[in-house]
Amino acid sequence: MSEGYVEGFAQAYDQFWRPYPTKSAQSLLKLLESSAPDARRVLDIGCGTGIVAEQFQQAGFEVTGLDKSPAMLALARARLGEAPVLIEGDAADFTVDEQFPVAVSTYDIPNHLADLDQIAAYLQCVYAAVEPGGLFAFDLATVAGLRGMNTVQIRDTEEAMLLFRGALNESAGVGFYRISGVVRAEDGRYDRFETTMTNIVVPIDHLLKLLADAGWADSYLAAQDDLLTPLAEVPDTLRHVFVISRKP
Ligand SMILES: C[S@@+](CC[C@H](N)C(=O)[O-])C[C@H]1O[C@@H](n2cnc3c(N)ncnc32)[C@H](O)[C@@H]1O
Repeated sequence: MSEGYVEGFAQAYDQFWRPYPTKSAQSLLKLLESSAPDARRVLDIGCGTGIVAEQFQQAGFEVTGLDKSPAMLALARARLGEAPVLIEGDAADFTVDEQFPVAVSTYDIPNHLADLDQIAAYLQCVYAAVEPGGLFAFDLATVAGLRGMNTVQIRDTEEAMLLFRGALNESAGVGFYRISGVVRAEDGRYDRFETTMTNIVVPIDHLLKLLADAGWADSYLAAQDDLLTPLAEVPDTLRHVFVISRKP
């Protein structure tokens, strides 16, 4: 059984999941215009195929991306060219040579980790990778968002076809989904892939405590369309919430 962002699925991800990270990048760039106007380097943790990184690059940022999937990184390399440093590594167990003024991590990276201990390790690794005074902005799926897993969906285009089957076990705090399908290869033939993934429920209160334990300060929650305005509370219907923190 294959797991994670395997070859084939990486290509399908890049096609079908693109709108959300595209919008996230726009919102993050707006946030940085006012909250970190001098920053010119960014670390993108769980950079995937580089959809967010590309917009940072176009805005003049020097990008370093980290992801554990070689298939996603290969597409990021094709999209971003030779300039960015792309690291194959684990978001919960990495170090970098030089600290960054800004770190971003988009599309539910904490939910992809195995448990809350791994999330604590992720927050600590990012903390060590950011300069004093630097900013960390990331998002996660809320329970409302994870309930979207309770579905069977078929997507069908000229380039790819995929079947998504998922289920969230709310009391256990974990959901599973299986994605299988075909993607068109360069020679015009179709390659089959299948993968199984898990997403964990991340209680927001616990996450805020882990952030503080890791040393992050001034943490606030925000919705994707306005990362500058803290949410007083997370609406029940919000599917993803952003967290913005600063390293003292
Ligand atoms: C939903 S995709 C998001 C990709 C990208 N951030 C975006 O917004 O398009 C999740 C990414 O997290 C990566 N990932 C999951 N667990 C990881 C881990 N422990 N360490 C590094 N990357 C991880 C996956 O390989 C995948 O590329």
